[in-house]
Amino acid sequence: MEDRFGRTIDYLRISITDRCNLRCLYCMPAGGIKVKPRDEILRLEELLHLARIALQLGINKFRLTGGEPLLRRGVISFIQALALLPGVADLSLTTNGVLLTHLNEQLWGAGVRRLNISLDTLDPVKYRQMTRGGEFHQVWDGIMEALSVGFQPVKLNVVALNQFNDREWVQFARLTYEYPLHVRFIEIMPVGASWELAGSHFASSRQVRERIEQALGVLDPAEAVTGNGPASSYRLAGARGTIGFIGAVSSHFCDRCNRLRLTADGKLRPCLHDQREVELLQALRSGASDAELQDLFRTALLMKPANYHEATGAPANGRGMCQIGG
Ligand code: GTP
Ligand code: 5AD
Ligand code: SF4
Repeated sequence: MEDRFGRTIDYLRISITDRCNLRCLYCMPAGGIKVKPRDEILRLEELLHLARIALQLGINKFRLTGGEPLLRRGVISFIQALALLPGVADLSLTTNGVLLTHLNEQLWGAGVRRLNISLDTLDPVKYRQMTRGGEFHQVWDGIMEALSVGFQPVKLNVVALNQFNDREWVQFARLTYEYPLHVRFIEIMPVGASWELAGSHFASSRQVRERIEQALGVLDPAEAVTGNGPASSYRLAGARGTIGFIGAVSSHFCDRCNRLRLTADGKLRPCLHDQREVELLQALRSGASDAELQDLFRTALLMKPANYHEATGAPANGRGMCQIGG
């Protein structure tokens, strides 16, 4: 599908649950978010139906997000079914990694071949603090196991934050010498619960890059790592993995935007930074035909703003990342 600005939209990020087993400081308020009652969440067969509609329209790359997608009951058989839909060109998952040691093998068996895992610190004490209770070693073990199971690429998402993980940026970069990991530093965006941190702890990709280059030498542009997202990739001389930057705030990749988002409660969201959404759940449940559902996808496509300047903006009390899926 092509939007009004000539961008090809072929990637759907599907948030399959708004629940999470962590409470990251930049993502959720301390008390967590009020999750939706189950009947307001798309059922797995409804998700599959919508994926089929997306495929009919040429959207053939899918990423499952959350909340934490691995918390969704039935996730493995859902992935298996999704992977088998004719035309699926890419299927991946963004996870906090907490459940990976239990699910790596099953994910592989279901057809997932690559994983993006959120990890903002390598320090167990800070990890507990950032996630309000998470256990670092559980995630680290899951990452190591994912590598040995054979997932490739395995990407680590590190939200770069001054006075939180700035002393660890070099340590994260060093991981790429030892492991075939793709470490991506992300600029924090002021969305939902992150407004405060985004104001006080913001670190730019440039700042992170300079710090790494000062310590470890020049970062050479690397071959693109399999993916559909906006990261730019570099490599340290002799490293097995790459270092990526997602300049979500400083470098605008809106002109290359290729995606729509589907929220767990069944709304199609044309842009991360836009409040407008197209309601699909009601349409599905009131028996909309495939042609009508396709039209709703086209409506969302037409609503896609040229860039985030033209988007309506995300107010501090709008949906958080855990309800949009990042
Ligand atoms: P691949 O490149 O396919 O591996 O995925 P990805 O990098 O798009 O996905 P991931 O879920 O790992 O997201 C990484 C970061 O990019 C997260 O912080 C997302 O919120 C951010 N991101 C993803 N899509 C967008 C977008 O459309 N706009 C902006 N500004 N940030 C995005
Ligand atoms: N800004 C940038 N990245 C964010 N993520 C969550 N909230 C934000 C934010 N405000 C990241 C998570 C996860 C990915 C889906 O989005 O760390 O890796
Ligand atoms: Fe959960 Fe991800 Fe939000 Fe952390 S960032 S609370 S892991 S949804």
